[in-house]
Amino acid sequence: MFNEEHNLVPLRWAMVGGGRGSEIGHAHRAAAHRDGLFQLVAGAFDLDADRGRAFGSNLGLDPDRCYADYATMFAAETQRPDGIQAVSIATPNSTHYAISLAALRAGLHVICEKPVTFTVAEAEELRVEAQARGRVFGVMYGYSGFQMLHQARAMVQSGELGQVRVVNMQFAHGFHSQPVEQASSGAKWRTSPSVSGSTYVLGDLGTHIFHAGQYITGLKVERLMCHRQSFVASRAPLEDNAQVMLQYKSGAVGSLWASAVNAGSMHQQKIRVVGEKASIEWWDEYPNQLRYEVQGEPVRILERGMGYLAAEDAGVSCNRIGGGHAEGFFESWANIYHRYALAMHDAEARQQGTASVDDTQSNVWYPDIDSGIEGVRLLECCVESADNDSRWVTF
Ligand SMILES: NC(=O)c1ccc[n+]([C@@H]2O[C@H](COP(=O)([O-])OP(=O)(O)OC[C@H]3O[C@@H](n4cnc5c(N)ncnc54)[C@H](O)[C@@H]3O)[C@@H](O)[C@H]2O)c1
Repeated sequence: MFNEEHNLVPLRWAMVGGGRGSEIGHAHRAAAHRDGLFQLVAGAFDLDADRGRAFGSNLGLDPDRCYADYATMFAAETQRPDGIQAVSIATPNSTHYAISLAALRAGLHVICEKPVTFTVAEAEELRVEAQARGRVFGVMYGYSGFQMLHQARAMVQSGELGQVRVVNMQFAHGFHSQPVEQASSGAKWRTSPSVSGSTYVLGDLGTHIFHAGQYITGLKVERLMCHRQSFVASRAPLEDNAQVMLQYKSGAVGSLWASAVNAGSMHQQKIRVVGEKASIEWWDEYPNQLRYEVQGEPVRILERGMGYLAAEDAGVSCNRIGGGHAEGFFESWANIYHRYALAMHDAEARQQGTASVDDTQSNVWYPDIDSGIEGVRLLECCVESADNDSRWVTF
């Protein structure tokens, strides 16, 4: 069960991006504040400096700590005895690398949105920088805080499915079936290569379910092939639909469908893992359930919060309330932020040469820079394949 009690002082935390009207800024603030482990004390929230300052003040921040841009914020905050310790970066994709690097160099723990960078080389540079400085680098795969994904992983790892044969993944919504970017700034940058990067739906959506697949199965991808299209022609060269075939080193195979033109669909973010003996299936529109299908037996629907589920990580639970109550997107995000906070306190303790905050809370799992790198590697390989007549590309 979830443990609310801790003796940890909230981390002094800032945001870059996530300003007024942004899609994902509120999710970061809600998740970070949920358990009292972070306190928002500063921000460079917006490309428009005045709007960003006004927004920060409205959130209750000291106006002196609502900055015009991230560079000014990092420079000013490092001079303060009560300066920020951690920052979340919720800006469009093209800015992640430069802001993350500057944050690490300012000695901060970083939580960055996905896709974490444009290239694997950039993401690897961030890993080196974070490791050299003993900083936590989280990548915001927010769905990975759902208890049933952790249950799925436990079932695969304990052999309940037998050897994994097939991993079927999709994240295919229908909200951009028409050229909505003409009226929506959030959709506009997603379809602009200079801001979005070399992909649209593969990076925006595919990286999420790919991460879930990697987390649940632990399988290593050997090679892949990708086919991508722009059904709304003005989006070319960026795809609004893509299909990927995967071969894993174990001999298992997989597929991934990412789409924003799946007309009528809300999210359709799903994963099905097929083993020799049984299969499991999870769908983010019904996140509290996990289908468990043993060959020759009736289907079982496992429910979140129940005693029959696998034991959770010591000291960190993804189960906030007993079974029967619905948990959702915001709980999942809060679970991830909770893990980031524990990891950051652990890193601080290690750096000061003191024992970890609590032995049960050291080495806590969270979506880290390695997960971010794998996501960017997926994108690089998909683009190489798709742009070369869908040939197989070594991962
Ligand atoms: N993890 C998820 O589930 C999830 C969901 C949505 C978006 N995202 C990711 O979050 C990021 C932001 O997406 P969004 O949809 O919120 O975008 P958005 O366009 O809605 O908002 C971006 C915000 O960042 C600000 N901004 C842009 N450049 C800035 C800069 N240099 N300094 C300070 N502020 C700046 C903008 O003014 C705006 O407030 C993207 O990388 C996206 O892929 C992730």
